[in-house]
Amino acid sequence: MTRSRFGILGFGGYAPERVMTNDEWAEYVDTSDEWITARTGIKRRRVADDRETTVDLAAVAAEKALADAGVSAAELDEIVIATDTPEAYAPDTAAFLQHRLGAGEVTGYDLGGSGCAGFVLALDVGMSRVVQRSRRILVVGVELITRMMDWSDRATCVLFGDAAGAVVLGPAEAPVELLASTAGTDGSQADILARFAGGTRKPFSLEMAERREHLEIAFNGREVFRQAVKRMSEASRDVLEQAGKRIEDVALVIPHQANRRIIDSVRKSLRLGEEQIYVNIEDYGNTGSASVPLALFQAREEGRIEPGDLVLLTAFGAGFHWAAALLQF
Ligand code: ACO
Repeated sequence: MTRSRFGILGFGGYAPERVMTNDEWAEYVDTSDEWITARTGIKRRRVADDRETTVDLAAVAAEKALADAGVSAAELDEIVIATDTPEAYAPDTAAFLQHRLGAGEVTGYDLGGSGCAGFVLALDVGMSRVVQRSRRILVVGVELITRMMDWSDRATCVLFGDAAGAVVLGPAEAPVELLASTAGTDGSQADILARFAGGTRKPFSLEMAERREHLEIAFNGREVFRQAVKRMSEASRDVLEQAGKRIEDVALVIPHQANRRIIDSVRKSLRLGEEQIYVNIEDYGNTGSASVPLALFQAREEGRIEPGDLVLLTAFGAGFHWAAALLQF
């Protein structure tokens, strides 16, 4: 089989029911709807129920993607999950999801640590495995960030929300093709956006918890902003060049939803029209690895993607890591 006969077969997405508005955040920390809206574009986000865990979110998105693909869990050959808020430290979330879905005893693994770029990276890895082995692979991006963040740190807590998105990859007559992909890492600035607590550099301790450092996100918002615009724009140009396409050919760009102003800057940098870029940050906030697959699922559900469309995914996250992919519907 040629590469052109492999691709995305189905899409799924899920966000927990509970909606939390900016005004509600103002009851917990010294913030306001005005500040959050002006600086980020976020108006509300979804927050998982206390009984929900990462695998619950992942399972709903995965089941939707499997149904959309017409593939049963038993037919899966591999499960890849991008997350930085896993079900457990070990084993990985893929193990829990394999059991939950009733999949066979297949290869399953998590790609963690690449922050909000995780799903696009996992898509790239998954696609190469599909082509190599002619397999059906489930790729999920999921985060339950609200459980793992400091609800008293106004600089970070208002930014995030919980969600999951998934795709099924495999061989088919007319799949959504991956025309080009790219991914990169620059670890020289790892300290600018990171969670150190619990790692070997900073093992958990009682003192750490007393200082509320166990949930701390090290974070330089301005530098993250600058790098996110630069890297997402460059990665987008890279995949266009690889595929011999122009930005005018692209029907829709789906960027990681970190901040409305970052998205606007990427749009200007790529000289895109408003209608060429998908934005759902107002309703969901930053959902990490779930952001791109959730937006992809929603864009398709809303009829924003037609057969024949070129769709560009671009993401940036902790590491720094970045990744982009060009899809032909
Ligand atoms: N409500 C009210 N005031 C706040 C809040 C809040 N929630 N958070 C911070 N402030 C205050 C600060 O304390 C500071 O006050 P000071 O001037 O008295 O010290 C003031 O607002 C400005 O703070 P900055 O951090 O400089 O605000 P900035 O304009 O940089 O906006 C933001 C912060 C929105 C996080 C911005 O830097 C940003 O968008 N960064 C990139 C996105 C990002 O980092 N997302 C996180 C995940 S990473 C990713 O997804 C790639």
